[in-house]
Amino acid sequence: MGSLQPADAAFLEPWTMPLHTSRPVQRQVSTASSGTRLSTSLALPAVLGIVTGVVRQRGLRVSRERRRPHLIRALKESDEPMLSGVKGPLNLVKEGEVEGLPWWWEAFWALPFTARGKVGEPLCLGDTMHIFRTNIEQIFGGEKSYDGAPLATGDLASAGLTDGTMYLGLQKYQEGFGDVYKLCFGPKSFMVVSDPQILKHILREKVFNYDKGVLGEVLEDVMGKGLIPADFETWKVRRRAIVPGFHQKWLNFQVSEFGRAGELLVSTLKEAASAGKTIDMEERFGSVALDIIGKSVFNYEFGSVEGESPIVKAAIQSLREVEHRAQTPFQYWKLPLTDLLIERQRDFNQNMTLLNDALNKCIEQALADRKEADLEELENRDYEKMDNPSLLRFLVDMRGEATSGKQLRDDMITFLIAGHETTASALTWSLFELAQNPELMKRLQKEVDTVMGDRVRPTYEDIKEMELLRLCLAESLRMYPEPPLLIRRALDEDTLPAGATGAETQVLRGMDFFVSIYNLHRDEKYWPNPNTYDPDRFKRKYTNPAIPGWAGYDPDGWKSQLYPNEIASDYAFIPFGAGPRKCVGDVFAMLEGCVSLAMVVRNFDFSFAAPTADPSQVGTCTGATIHTKNGLWMQVRERVAAKH
Ligand code: HEM
Repeated sequence: MGSLQPADAAFLEPWTMPLHTSRPVQRQVSTASSGTRLSTSLALPAVLGIVTGVVRQRGLRVSRERRRPHLIRALKESDEPMLSGVKGPLNLVKEGEVEGLPWWWEAFWALPFTARGKVGEPLCLGDTMHIFRTNIEQIFGGEKSYDGAPLATGDLASAGLTDGTMYLGLQKYQEGFGDVYKLCFGPKSFMVVSDPQILKHILREKVFNYDKGVLGEVLEDVMGKGLIPADFETWKVRRRAIVPGFHQKWLNFQVSEFGRAGELLVSTLKEAASAGKTIDMEERFGSVALDIIGKSVFNYEFGSVEGESPIVKAAIQSLREVEHRAQTPFQYWKLPLTDLLIERQRDFNQNMTLLNDALNKCIEQALADRKEADLEELENRDYEKMDNPSLLRFLVDMRGEATSGKQLRDDMITFLIAGHETTASALTWSLFELAQNPELMKRLQKEVDTVMGDRVRPTYEDIKEMELLRLCLAESLRMYPEPPLLIRRALDEDTLPAGATGAETQVLRGMDFFVSIYNLHRDEKYWPNPNTYDPDRFKRKYTNPAIPGWAGYDPDGWKSQLYPNEIASDYAFIPFGAGPRKCVGDVFAMLEGCVSLAMVVRNFDFSFAAPTADPSQVGTCTGATIHTKNGLWMQVRERVAAKH
């Protein structure tokens, strides 16, 4: 599911060949068994291959300039134990070991095409090359780190890219290197950050200096100019048009729609319960989330809770492929003839055609029925009486919005991708944790029984009253953030605040970032007992005087909101991102999750069943979200209290 396949890895090999070095003694180039190195995007010209040729597989390296010498010492003394969960070879550099740079090094950087771009200009090849240069000089030339960040070199396996656990690999590195470090695959690097003050800086204060970088390039083929990969110009226009679509009255109406979908889910679970069949709850939550997003966003009935159709299969498989691509920075699918040669590429194209046809029909219909109206009129529509109460209809009808069919398609597919797996995963992990905490489950069922009374579907007001329900979802988003990593690229030079790391970090133009929400949400500095599922933690105030500049978590900070947010936690809890590019569907998702979870726990008791009879067999693996590895198989029993 979504992880880099050996066949894909083979495409990377030419970029990792050693082409030239100044040193007579050569280390062996890595073989498949020692992990395959990650290359940069296809856009880099062959000459960078020559430059990268001086870099060979070295395992984990330690730069000279370190901000956490005690940790590095610990790593040197104990060799691997701190990183024992990280797969792949991890060899530490010996004291004073510097390979040196080739004789032509300085002359090469005087060539015109290596020149860096100027402030305010678009990024250019020279910017990317300059990052390579500083990394190579740091690793092989023993130069001072330009940015001040500790440097770790990695391979696909140790970073978890080969088995879909990259976020876990990055957490292991965090244990060794702290909340800011540079992960190098050959000369290609990602700055990995998880400090709340740095995240606030990147996501909010300097948001327009950080675009979606690699992710934008990878998703562009599928999402076009949808909000997630969109350039800032397009994004500003579309975000302004889309946000009002999620207005209160529409969300209120959606709550009853979520209930309708929930009823279908409950009836399929009842069948399983009475037949004594086990059921994969991850698949069930995925189906209900797909049906909900199709209906509410573009008025399409996928009907996936009731059965699988070719379009459901196409939707699910294309979403899987998008996830796969999002994790595969080498854009092999852009190579000539891959459409013909690679089966998954052919399947993907067929699936996308099917999905696009369905979306385009919805868009054509909405455009044909267009009734232009002002924002106020749109917000006061009686959605109960409309044939098409979807978000698409809102966007089409908005007066003065000159939206093309192509832009609408891009918006719709973006919603489909952004809103499907994320909500399904939040539900999956909530149930996974609740099923292991019977006391908590009982408390939750009691809350739901009491608040919902005789109502079969919860209302918006019910959800506001069911605090524990909302906290259960929030806590699962803390432990299993969707997505666990955000991707960014610096457009101009910048200085990151020190936060808890003790030193500022210099950012070069073109530097790629992994913003690790997972590392942040599982960090003991901000969340005591971070690996314990404890929804009540959000009711307790928490400060940590050891972290200068972090205001702590304050439950009063989100009183009028549905969920504890980045403001209440001073950016230590960012389940929906933060700043201007924060999730537009956050409230929608919380409401959807609450309705589905409330209806499910109200009606059923759950216990783990084969092949995941033991919770440890559930496993994790990532695409854009954290999935289970083997499904969440459960025995479902109807609750006596729920018979109504
Ligand atoms: C539990 C469910 C969800 C979670 C955890 C979630 C999480 C996120 C996060 C973390 C981001 C920020 C990405 C970044 O900064 O790179 C984001 C963006 C986005 N999300 Fe969600 N999301 C969820 C559900 C939804 C739903 C239901 C929709 C649509 C109906 C949606 C639509 C979007 C869009 C369009 C963006 C891009 C916003 C922009 O760049 O302006 N999401 N989401």
